Amino acid sequence: MDHRAKRDVPQNGQHNAAHAPTVVELSAQDLRRRLNEALSIYVAAMDYPRGTEHHRAPMWAEHISRPGWRAVGAFLNDPLTFPDSRDNPLVAIGYGYRGAPHQWWHQQVYSGMRSAGWPEEATHETLSNYFELTELHVHPGAQGHRLGETILRRLMHDRPERSILLSTPEVYGEDNRAWRLYRRLGFRDVVRQFTFTGDSRPFAVLGRSLPLPSTVRAPAS
Ligand SMILES: CC(C)(COP(=O)(O)OP(=O)(O)OC[C@H]1O[C@@H](n2cnc3c(N)ncnc32)[C@H](O)[C@@H]1OP(=O)(O)O)[C@@H](O)C(=O)NCCC(=O)NCCS
Repeated sequence: MDHRAKRDVPQNGQHNAAHAPTVVELSAQDLRRRLNEALSIYVAAMDYPRGTEHHRAPMWAEHISRPGWRAVGAFLNDPLTFPDSRDNPLVAIGYGYRGAPHQWWHQQVYSGMRSAGWPEEATHETLSNYFELTELHVHPGAQGHRLGETILRRLMHDRPERSILLSTPEVYGEDNRAWRLYRRLGFRDVVRQFTFTGDSRPFAVLGRSLPLPSTVRAPAS
């Protein structure tokens, strides 16, 4: 992987600039090589039981070949510990792809929207041209420094789709980092309290139009 390419450094005054994680777009080959590392960030960030990564690995690997797939990772920069930047540890990962009617998530969201009262035409319109943000995870030790926002902005940059959709677990008072991030970036409700087949937890489906302006003012609460 060429870490010199396409770098973004999160703008956070509290970071030591020399050691601020570097955000780079990952190729399919990069993610395949780093898949176990990326999955361990996912398990740690979501606080899932160890072993969850084994179920998810084939799914993440299959997603890589979907049309419009894009992945962005953040790597720790620590030249003293890792003199060769190719050894830098991954601390955050996000990816997604272009949504399509044959995909399971698309079909679930379609049913959820219809059950929630969305008219057929508006449902079709909303699901006709979108980027699905499939995963976004920052290792707990690296959270709270806008890495999530930097990765999300990078994923959304110059996308050909008209909108971006995602699902996130419902949380009381929308009081966690994921919710704050999505609201801050102007994501709005598509479906609330939705249960995907095979998962009893309630989820929200959120979305916003693309492109994302460089500055987004969250709606007053
Ligand atoms: C959700 C997640 C990806 C967000 O990433 P993050 O890097 O921690 O969060 P952000 O990029 O939003 O940055 C958050 C902090 O940056 C700070 N920040 C926001 N805007 C800022 C600004 N303009 N200047 C300086 N700091 C700012 C805020 O203090 C914010 O902290 P808060 O969330 O406690 O309010 C990450 O917390 C995570 O992986 N969580 C667990 C897994 C998860 O829920 N994933 C999403 C599943 S759908």
